[in-house]
Amino acid sequence: MAFDAEAIRAEFPILARQVNGKPLVYLDSAASAQKPRAVIAAMTHAMEHSYANVHRGLHTLANETTEAYEGARKKVAAFIGAEPGEIVFTKGGTEAINLVAAGLGARLAPGDEIVLTEMEHHANIVPWHFLRERLGVVLKFAPITDQGVLDLEAFQSLLGPRTRVVALSHMSNVLGTINPVTELTAMAHAAGALVLLDGCQAIVHKPIDVKAIDADFYVFSGHKLYGPTGIGILYGKAERLAELPPYQGGGEMIGQVSFDEITYADPPHRFEAGTPPILEAIGLGAAIDWLGGLDRLAVAAHEHRLYQRVREGLAGANWLKVLGEAPGKGAILSFTVDGAHAHDVAQILDRYGIAVRAGTHCAEPLMRRFGVTSSARASFALYNTEREADSFVDALFKTQAFFA
Ligand code: ALA
Repeated sequence: MAFDAEAIRAEFPILARQVNGKPLVYLDSAASAQKPRAVIAAMTHAMEHSYANVHRGLHTLANETTEAYEGARKKVAAFIGAEPGEIVFTKGGTEAINLVAAGLGARLAPGDEIVLTEMEHHANIVPWHFLRERLGVVLKFAPITDQGVLDLEAFQSLLGPRTRVVALSHMSNVLGTINPVTELTAMAHAAGALVLLDGCQAIVHKPIDVKAIDADFYVFSGHKLYGPTGIGILYGKAERLAELPPYQGGGEMIGQVSFDEITYADPPHRFEAGTPPILEAIGLGAAIDWLGGLDRLAVAAHEHRLYQRVREGLAGANWLKVLGEAPGKGAILSFTVDGAHAHDVAQILDRYGIAVRAGTHCAEPLMRRFGVTSSARASFALYNTEREADSFVDALFKTQAFFA
């Protein structure tokens, strides 16, 4: 059955608004996706009917909220093929990577090596730079081709006896490249390294089975997955989480505390110090329920069709340069317009009601790799339509005319 984006749109109240007197065309979902009514309603319902702190109370509201919060953990686990005890709620994908980097750092030594790739988001670079600065570990960046494809031979050649961690993006937020993560994980494991995958973009566009991929850690954020901000997920294999020291100290992450000593709770609670993102977890659970009612392969095919339609519409645009032409890439179009700064392109598109991101996309090393200081980026989501794809193409031609 064909995917009906027009029907889906009706579930996103914000998409009915106008921007600068034009219908909103939201092509910035890779930065943050809009929220369906199901998510808004679940969070509102919790606040209006059943809200208290979790794990601490003996009263009815505390019990109900704890059930909803732990229920959300079960939903996330089922969504990616994990066990609930392997799911840690964080405040975002970034915090999830920082948590793992800090924990693994506790057992790294100077000269140990961490392999990343040239296409990483700063969230999957900077936490590892901390370890370089503080511990003297060595960072190695696996190169990519001009098409934006990871060079597998070069990646293999970077793996050696000192490689302790491999951390890489499942899908690039700039190039749309989808990396062969199962193969890469097997290569890294064969070298004795642990593997962390940044799934912030991939999880939105692909069904994920963490056990099939076999990575040690898989992280993603809620707000790109049609859920709220303020929540991210760290999946870790049970044995890997058990080895990690706590990240932050506070309530709820302890076993016992005395004036002289401390013991810690088991994962996942060991990593959830303080009051966790309760409403956000409930909202993310609702987003996952909502996605569960969709044919996700049909969604991916729809997004891909939009991307293709835009590429065909722009086929004659000799002033356009596209970053990322990897076979099988996701529906992300990063581009530069000859003679125009990406920020100006984005601002002019905004006059036509079209929202795109422009800048470095938190991937400065990647920008340098392609010899640009910035790019504009249109990212396609399940609620975008062919009409919107055509409006974008039309507006981009008009935008370019300003600079011609
Ligand atoms: N990482 C997000 C993006 O790519 C914010 O825009």
